[in-house]
Amino acid sequence: MTERIVQSIRTVPELRVEVAARRAAGATVGFVPTMGALHAGHAALIERAAREHDLVVVSIFVNPSQFNQISDLAQYPRNETGDVQLAGDAGADICFVPDVEAIYPEGFATNVQVRGPLAETLEGSERGVGHFDGVATVVTVLLNIVGADVAYFGAKDAQQVLVVKRFVEDLQIPVQIVTVDTVRNDDGLALSSRNARLTAESCDQALAIPAALKVTADAISDGSATSVESGRAIGIERLRAAGVEAEYFAITDASTLEPADELTGTLLIACAATVGGVRLIDNLTVSANREAATARC
Ligand code: PAF
Repeated sequence: MTERIVQSIRTVPELRVEVAARRAAGATVGFVPTMGALHAGHAALIERAAREHDLVVVSIFVNPSQFNQISDLAQYPRNETGDVQLAGDAGADICFVPDVEAIYPEGFATNVQVRGPLAETLEGSERGVGHFDGVATVVTVLLNIVGADVAYFGAKDAQQVLVVKRFVEDLQIPVQIVTVDTVRNDDGLALSSRNARLTAESCDQALAIPAALKVTADAISDGSATSVESGRAIGIERLRAAGVEAEYFAITDASTLEPADELTGTLLIACAATVGGVRLIDNLTVSANREAATARC
């Protein structure tokens, strides 16, 4: 990837002017929304956007409205200089780095809410629906500001992607949402900004999460799991063997997030667990059609 010169823009009017000028010159626009603390998973999103678009905008904004605990917001890692460098190296042209007032000016009184299993199960039930209200609201604002052709999201936050796709369709926002596969360390751990807070010991323990997902996906694929409950039990047992207690370890329909009744169709295996004081999430999609079963990890 050739290094591009990345420009940091802090205000909405400046960003609009810059994007409009590039559009007038025929550029297509790819957008990667982030909360900073960028890692190779974000780089994969930006690289994909740079392969597919003339102009790549990356937003770096730690969105206060999606945190349900002040302490989590306070602890969220911030490193603007490193983030802008990584984004530029990965192919970004513009880093949009607004302050809170630029996104939520005085008098802001709107909330975008998605309801139903997509937003109310798994993360929505553990963190409260307010989490996805915060995500939906900020992503709507950012999509309106950037006006991209395509926005890129990571599959690690599978539920977030489904929520975003839902409100983009419902609100008829003219943007295509693309999901990019989860990037993992060689040991299987899904990359996350939160991994920086894991000690070496808790990092080892955290490997039980991808291992539990994989062993469950394999058991569904090879038929050794004969029911949703037996599939879940296999994963939960693998977690417990490493001393990890899941907040949830769920097998759901991959597109509706309704709990699966049986092991058929495309299923999402999703897990959240706190390891060494750090809350981690991960998931795998598995095709439960026995003849053509595939487990993606
Ligand atoms: O996935 C994230 O980093 C955030 O939820 C997002 C999409 C940037 C909204 O703040």
